[in-house]
Amino acid sequence: MKNKIIKLLVKLRLIKDPKRKEKRHALVGSSKRWKIKQDFQIKFLKDQGLKEDDVFLDIGCGTLRGGIPIMKFLNVGNYYGVDIRENAIEEAKNELREEKLTQKIGDLILFDKFENLQINTRFNKMLAFSVLIHLSDDILYECLKFVKNNLTDGGVLYANVNIGDNDQGSWLEFPVMFKTLDFYKSTCDKLGLKFDVLGELRELGHISGDELSDKQLMLKIYKA
Ligand SMILES: C[S@@+](CC[C@H](N)C(=O)[O-])C[C@H]1O[C@@H](n2cnc3c(N)ncnc32)[C@H](O)[C@@H]1O
Repeated sequence: MKNKIIKLLVKLRLIKDPKRKEKRHALVGSSKRWKIKQDFQIKFLKDQGLKEDDVFLDIGCGTLRGGIPIMKFLNVGNYYGVDIRENAIEEAKNELREEKLTQKIGDLILFDKFENLQINTRFNKMLAFSVLIHLSDDILYECLKFVKNNLTDGGVLYANVNIGDNDQGSWLEFPVMFKTLDFYKSTCDKLGLKFDVLGELRELGHISGDELSDKQLMLKIYKA
């Protein structure tokens, strides 16, 4: 009965759909785990020393599941998000409006490939949360080339990865990629990048109950 009344009130636009966040963030992963993923990203970045005046790029920002608290923390104009999916960017805009943050964002950019992505800002912090795991080898190379060219000296990219040597399945239109640390090392070497392994996500506070993601490694990538 209560659910029916809520549905009716939503339909009549008298209240907002209480499940709208779950529905929106289901575009970037499990609808049940969106808050865990959101809380993890901001806490992890603060643990790594995120500062309010950092100039921050969220690669594969999706619906701003992770981006909203990061943007709230940063100075006005210092958060930029980029993604290749139009529907995710549209929902990101809705999320921005609902959170009353449209004046706070630096930019939200829909792009097609990293080779064509141009932003007239250099970033000292970047995050690609659950993004490299969906990039084929060629796209990963182009992504990291973009990172190299758009990081300040001393800047860093944090990115979680699946470790293994065979790809497993797919998510939406994207593959789910497993690569070896040697592969990441040789790709980074080619581009003049280095990385440190910060640990498994679970060791960094990502306890989601999903074994595959909790055991992903977090890399800190920077110019050699
Ligand atoms: C699992 S979601 C994570 C979204 C966001 N980082 C978060 O944690 O809330 C992965 C995102 O990466 C994006 N993505 C996939 N391939 C991409 C590419 N080649 N370039 C940029 N974004 C990509 C997808 O569109 C999707 O929004």
